[in-house]
Amino acid sequence: MYRSHTCGELRSAHINQEVTLSGWVQKVRDKGFMVWVDVRDRYGITQLIFDEERTPKAVFEKAQGLGREFVIQVTGKVIERVSKNPNIPTGDIEILVTDLTVLNTAKTPPFTIEDETDGGEDLRMKYRYLDIRRNPVKNSLLFRHKVAMQVRNYLSNEGFIEVETPYLIKSTPEGARDFVVPSRMNEGQFYALPQSPQTFKQLLMVGGMDKYFQLVKCFRDEDLRADRQPEFTQIDCEMAFVEQEDILNIFEGLTRHLLKEIHGFEIASFPRMTYAEAMKKYGNDKPDIRFGMEFGELNEVAQHKDFKVFNDAELVVGIAVPGANSYTRKEIDKLIDWVKRPQVGALGMVYVKCNEDGSFKSSVDKFYDQEDLAKWAEATGAKPGDLICILSGATNKVRAQLSALRMEMAERLGLRKPNEFAPLWVVDFPLLEWDEETARYHAMHHPFTSPKPEDFSLIETNPGEVRANAYDLVLNGNEIGGGSIRIHDKELQSRMFSLLGFTPEQAQEQFGFLMNAFQYGAPPHGGLAFGFDRLVAILGGQETIRDFIAFPKNNSGRDVMIDAPATIDDEQLKELHIKLNV
Ligand code: AMO
Repeated sequence: MYRSHTCGELRSAHINQEVTLSGWVQKVRDKGFMVWVDVRDRYGITQLIFDEERTPKAVFEKAQGLGREFVIQVTGKVIERVSKNPNIPTGDIEILVTDLTVLNTAKTPPFTIEDETDGGEDLRMKYRYLDIRRNPVKNSLLFRHKVAMQVRNYLSNEGFIEVETPYLIKSTPEGARDFVVPSRMNEGQFYALPQSPQTFKQLLMVGGMDKYFQLVKCFRDEDLRADRQPEFTQIDCEMAFVEQEDILNIFEGLTRHLLKEIHGFEIASFPRMTYAEAMKKYGNDKPDIRFGMEFGELNEVAQHKDFKVFNDAELVVGIAVPGANSYTRKEIDKLIDWVKRPQVGALGMVYVKCNEDGSFKSSVDKFYDQEDLAKWAEATGAKPGDLICILSGATNKVRAQLSALRMEMAERLGLRKPNEFAPLWVVDFPLLEWDEETARYHAMHHPFTSPKPEDFSLIETNPGEVRANAYDLVLNGNEIGGGSIRIHDKELQSRMFSLLGFTPEQAQEQFGFLMNAFQYGAPPHGGLAFGFDRLVAILGGQETIRDFIAFPKNNSGRDVMIDAPATIDDEQLKELHIKLNV
């Protein structure tokens, strides 16, 4: 028996009991006549005491030779601590050790295994197994497990069953590049790893599994960011015989359940907003609605004077930043530099200071009088003490720029509180998106998404205006999930492929299996997928998903611990029928 208790378990009630613990040496304090050792495992830390007088000599000497991260097993008696440590749950007791076995020695770790470590990100990733011993990482993994269990409980109670779908498949279009796997047995042919199990879950609906879910790995070869990994996990779901409303209700329920079970947080309202409204009010399809600063469009009240910049603009739009009237000239100049950075890309910014006495002072006083500025204040909802920031230009661009400024100001003002949760459904996404580079339409969600029947007549004449039965779940300004009602009709699906630029042959080759399946009684169906890593990170009050993944990749898509990707030897290449061109 390696242990009778864990290192986080013992309390005053255990005093005088004989116990055995196993774990890692956190710290050794050798006072010559007395040695204290902190032993750690997943559950906590317990203090061990080796005393020259009370501990057998051989054991005492062994204790003096212990080093950090040695793996040890000790047996001894639980005694009351002389100086108690109220900061840890086991702080009232210590173990007077009578027997010590070194189960394994350890090299000195390259960084300290403590909450505040001296190890930088790269080093910690290289030795991720040591990083996992640290509380912040360990707790993130425990937290992830807890969320996963709650997801499974909720969906299972709602009648969903978890079905595993294959990883070695054919391309599923989700907008990223595929990771491919060469086939040894089929020369010149490749599998693609799923960007999502989209087609399989639809085939499960044809198969009659009317409520499916899966916590599933997805693979996307795309540029990485704090909220993106090349392999990540989805809570993937699909339902048959449902309308959009049914799906929104079930997953609103899941979101409420998680916030309640994980945080004891009851959501008061779960609003819905159309894509068009989100873009108009927040310049963004994933608005953070925990704070105001809604956009005020100013074309009508700003385009009648001689200010050419505004007159020439497609959109003039502003936000009222609460309390920022106190910004000095220098601070405002810095803000203007901030919006001009290439990452934001504005050409400049007009501002209006809303003074406490109700008057205004703007950077365009030459062109506009107090009455004009009062109208701007009304349109942006500005109050005395606020600073109105105004951008202008091409609608889509200027919305994105002002949205970036809105988020920046919210961050600076501390309005993005990690322990406040404001979910939101964004609905009625456009079906198609124009891509300048390829000069054609792309599916905004994916090609299996159903257009809204009432917009269907526009599909040939004005495809950009067609709305889809597609929706996203947004939480605190992050896209947590997305889904849609699917096309379940073979004819409509073929028309959609042709609209997206597939020839009938290409469509048949890539998706023939799906269209064939649709000939055998496909039920009406729809679903969605939550990004599980993102959901866990946001629930954990953070936005970097790497911290909640046991073995994540770095920003170049590398696993620096196992050093992957890596070259393979010539023999293996030959077997796979691959000739390298490098
Ligand atoms: P979508 O592509 O919107 O939909 O993906 C669903 C959710 O997955 C998360 N996500 C990611 N998380 C981490 N790293 C990534 N690289 C990454 N990419 C996406 C996001 C996103 O909202 N098959 C459809 C769903 C459906 O229609 O049912 C799909 O995959 O949180």
